[in-house]
Amino acid sequence: MDLKSKINLESLPKHIAIIMDGNGRWAKKHGKPRVFGHRNGVKAVRDTTEAAAELGVENITLYAFSTENWNRPLLEVNALMALLVETIRGEISTLNKNNIRLKAIGDLKKLPPRSYKALMEGIESTKNNTRMNLILALNYSARWEIMNAVQNIAQKIEDKQLISANIDEKTFENELSTSGIPDPELLIRTSGESRISNFLLWQIAYSELYFTPILWPEFRRDHLYEAIIDFQNRERRFGKTSEQVAK
Ligand code: FPP
Repeated sequence: MDLKSKINLESLPKHIAIIMDGNGRWAKKHGKPRVFGHRNGVKAVRDTTEAAAELGVENITLYAFSTENWNRPLLEVNALMALLVETIRGEISTLNKNNIRLKAIGDLKKLPPRSYKALMEGIESTKNNTRMNLILALNYSARWEIMNAVQNIAQKIEDKQLISANIDEKTFENELSTSGIPDPELLIRTSGESRISNFLLWQIAYSELYFTPILWPEFRRDHLYEAIIDFQNRERRFGKTSEQVAK
């Protein structure tokens, strides 16, 4: 069955966000340490990114490391940070060849210096690419992002650059780390969990949520196609009635 041909390329989501979950469970299933799951998770990242770019999706955001992930065993945190450096360095030329721009959201300054440096190099080296944004959420938490936006706005008021009566959704969105990127129409979470886990809370107000039991290291392009087909079969009403939407 050719899933790709079932996708309507005219109504692709412009932004897909993914909570990549289940690396640890996948490793356990194979009798291996958790880090083995993360390493294999990179293969899923590669295939998914490539497939999204080939389809013409303009933005893909991957939840790679949450603020809460610092609470994991030190060995795992260090391995994830090392994997990040290795993956970015190893993939820069492929990203450039495919005209994909690397971006990142989150409290990036608090990443270990080596990871931060590799990330900035990747971002800088791909900044003129135009086909798709690959956005990594790193040391990211939506509540942090919202608090940060509130602080920036308060500072602007203190500096007399803004008056409170003029704060609207646009003013607020401009202070989020996703500023300039459209909200995700589709949010995918793997591994059978049905939670948002502090990811893009503001931006997913109208997103379609797609939960799949597939563990992240097993996620491949066909799973992405299935999620997009499911998305395209849903009716997005944005608070209106079915009849109003059909017009
Ligand atoms: C969740 O699975 C996964 C993570 C916290 C890390 C995701 C990282 C990668 C896929 C590799 C690095 C990616 C890039 C883009 C460089 P889990 O460990 O919570 O799994 P579990 O719930 O089964 O324990």
